[in-house]
Amino acid sequence: MATEEHQRLANIVKNCHENLRQLTKLYGAERAWKEHTAPHNAEKLAEYADAMQQLAGIWESNASKTELQARSRIKWAIDYIIKYFYTEGIYLQKRQREQRLLASYNELADSECAYMDEPPDSVRVLDVGSCFNPFGNTPHLEVTAIDLCPAPGAHVFQGDFLTVSVDASLKQPEIVDQTVKSLPAGYYHCVIFSLLLEYIPSAEQRLVCCQKAYELLGPEGILVIITPDSQHVGKNASIMKNWRFALAKLGLLRVRFEKLPHITCMVFRRAISQHLSQHWASVHREEGICETIRIPQDDH
Ligand SMILES: C[S@@+](CC[C@H](N)C(=O)[O-])C[C@H]1O[C@@H](n2cnc3c(N)ncnc32)[C@H](O)[C@@H]1O
Repeated sequence: MATEEHQRLANIVKNCHENLRQLTKLYGAERAWKEHTAPHNAEKLAEYADAMQQLAGIWESNASKTELQARSRIKWAIDYIIKYFYTEGIYLQKRQREQRLLASYNELADSECAYMDEPPDSVRVLDVGSCFNPFGNTPHLEVTAIDLCPAPGAHVFQGDFLTVSVDASLKQPEIVDQTVKSLPAGYYHCVIFSLLLEYIPSAEQRLVCCQKAYELLGPEGILVIITPDSQHVGKNASIMKNWRFALAKLGLLRVRFEKLPHITCMVFRRAISQHLSQHWASVHREEGICETIRIPQDDH
């Protein structure tokens, strides 16, 4: 049962999303986003950040009370990242699968492949829409956290991921006065979108975020996407198919899908060859499938 305080915080978050959707209906996504991120809205964004941080604290403590560790999206993501790069070497299993796939697609036999050299000493993580830096103090992770409006006191840099540039000549993130100006292409082992995409008002802008994640990842790096979903697993199946297809077209193959209570957790990996994942997409194209990152709220 939600307490009054819980409800108040949830309403702040919900209203912010709803206002942005209304603005988008009125003006279109681009202008709505400009309005939303303009200085006159800074107070609202700060109120959201504070509410989101408190709300997430309540969710985490509820998750640990039920002893269902997997209910925590944060623990789920950390667990997968560690298994992927270290304890279970999942990246090697997925590499072998892709090599087999490549061999079976005769027309791609000469496709150039890129591999991660070794598992990294520490995993370079970009947490986009981090808010309060939930992955910040995790052993083996070296986190760059970025948010439109960081929560107070969190080690999170300010930046709009939609407008931040990706620069192939950089060796590390370019940060001026706690604001991210530019991010290095191919630098990260892992990009995290935890409850980010539903905030972004249009399918096109969400696709831009995914394209940037692809560019920021090094070979065999992973994009972890956590999305709210209280429906049963089949309800949003066609939406999820479109995501999988759209991301494969970018060069990211899905390697994990898990439906938990209230959320869906997915991991996509930068395939050893972009041709391979694009070919996978063309082979798996079904009638009605679209290259789009739509969400159920787009239809409301
Ligand atoms: C629902 S909160 C999720 C916070 C945290 N990742 C979590 O899982 O609890 C979404 C966050 O994404 C941030 N955000 C939305 N669009 C963004 C963008 N284009 N660039 C950076 N941050 C963004 C918002 O400011 C907000 O803090």
